[in-house]
Amino acid sequence: MAQDLSPIETAKFMAARHAAGIVESGMRVGLGTGSTAAWMVRCLAERVKTEGLRMTGVPTSRRTADLAADLGIPLASLDEVKWLDLTIDGADEFDAELNLIKGGGAALLQEKIVATASDRMIVIADAGKEVAQLGAFPLPVEVIPFGWQTTRRLIEEMLVGMDVLGHDCRLRLVGDRPLLTDESNYVIDLHLNRIGKARHLAMLLNQIPGVVENGLFIDICDTVFIGHADGRVMMRDRTGATQAEDRNDLSDLSNIFANPGD
Ligand code: A5P
Repeated sequence: MAQDLSPIETAKFMAARHAAGIVESGMRVGLGTGSTAAWMVRCLAERVKTEGLRMTGVPTSRRTADLAADLGIPLASLDEVKWLDLTIDGADEFDAELNLIKGGGAALLQEKIVATASDRMIVIADAGKEVAQLGAFPLPVEVIPFGWQTTRRLIEEMLVGMDVLGHDCRLRLVGDRPLLTDESNYVIDLHLNRIGKARHLAMLLNQIPGVVENGLFIDICDTVFIGHADGRVMMRDRTGATQAEDRNDLSDLSNIFANPGD
């Protein structure tokens, strides 16, 4: 039940529910990955079931595809729909310009492709994801397994000349084995502490052979919905303007809370 959720989960849910509420019938919607996006998928499924919302979801990971299919959301691949009205996804960090770090759930490649192929990207997050400067969260970089140690070395050499505070680059593991992304690639997490010039870093990373994509989302996100544990949702846009969007009531949500996951 709603009242059993932690304050952070409640905040994530509030942002997710608000974003799911703006989806209109007929929309093709990119479905993000992670715990906040999973709430959004549940809220959309509830609308499909109870309101007859007609929508097509394009998942950004196998995890999200499985959840959305289980809950009855009609799905298509990006190749089938080619372009989307909207993508709704979580983030690991966002700054005042709505630049993001994503990829904590290792889905950054599909997430970036889907968000870029959308008229609009909305990020849903709790207030703890907002930062003055990106970089406290380790920056995920997806690399192909072939020669990954050489790729890591090239990344480390490039970082020496960059406006960052740390240079530690670690292969992401599951137990004692490399984590594999949905595309069977590896992820290297860059512990930079502070990223001075995110746009420049994003471009340089993608020029290194072996790098498939990096978790910096520059000029992709249009709007952030920030959820709070007391039910408030604030909207932030690229002008820096913040406005109150909603105050949700936790009392009528038993259907959604009956089916937690992710
Ligand atoms: C998945 O790869 C990530 O980009 C997630 O969107 C991000 O890690 C946010 O996840 P949470 O909503 O679980 O915090």
